Amino acid sequence: MEKRGEYSLSGAREDQQVDRIHAYLSRSYWAKGIPLETVARSVENSLCVGVFAGGEQVGLARVVTDRATFAYLCDVYVLEEHRGKGLASWMLSALAAHPDLQGLRRFMLATRDAHALYERHGFTPVKRPQSLMEILNPVYFQ
Ligand SMILES: CC(C)(COP(=O)(O)OP(=O)(O)OC[C@H]1O[C@@H](n2cnc3c(N)ncnc32)[C@H](O)[C@@H]1OP(=O)(O)O)[C@@H](O)C(=O)NCCC(=O)NCCS
Repeated sequence: MEKRGEYSLSGAREDQQVDRIHAYLSRSYWAKGIPLETVARSVENSLCVGVFAGGEQVGLARVVTDRATFAYLCDVYVLEEHRGKGLASWMLSALAAHPDLQGLRRFMLATRDAHALYERHGFTPVKRPQSLMEILNPVYFQ
C-alpha cells in the first residue's frame, strides 16, 4: 500500500471493499440500483485501484482490460467528504504507471462532466466518434 497522509492506495484485489463500493455505486448517477452481486463480479474481474482512510474504502477507479491492447476506465468516485484532495488524480496516476496498462492501443472512458479531470491525465475527446458503436442497456436505472 502506498501512503499519503491519512490516506493509502492499493491495487490489490483483496483490499477492495465490495460492500462499500456497492454502497456508493448503487446511488451513483451511472449505476443507480446496481445489485451487490454485479459489483462483486465486476471488481473480481477488473483491475481496481482504491483509496482508503481509517481502514475504509473512500474511492475507486476500475479498469476493464485485456492488460495488453485495450482498457476501459469506469466506476471512478471519491466519497463526498474526501473530495478535492487529489485522491482521484492519485488513482489515475497509479493506473497510468501500472505495469499491466503500458503500451495499450486504446484507453477509453465515458463521463458526464469530469472531462477536465481526465484531460489532465492525457485523455482527449474521441477523434472519430462516428467510428464508435455501442449497445447501451440502462438496466439499473429504476
Ligand atoms: C470526479 C471525482 C472522482 C473527483 O474526485 P476528487 O478526489 O475530488 O478529484 P481530485 O481532487 O483528484 O481532482 C479534482 C479536480 O478535477 C476537476 N474536476 C473536473 N470535473 C470534475 C467533476 N465533475 N467533479 C469533480 N471534480 C472535477 C476539479 O476541478 C478538480 O480540479 P482542481 O484541483 O483544480 O480544483 C469526485 O468528484 C466524484 O466522485 N464525483 C462523483 C462521481 C463522479 O462523477 N465520478 C466520475 C464519473 S466519470
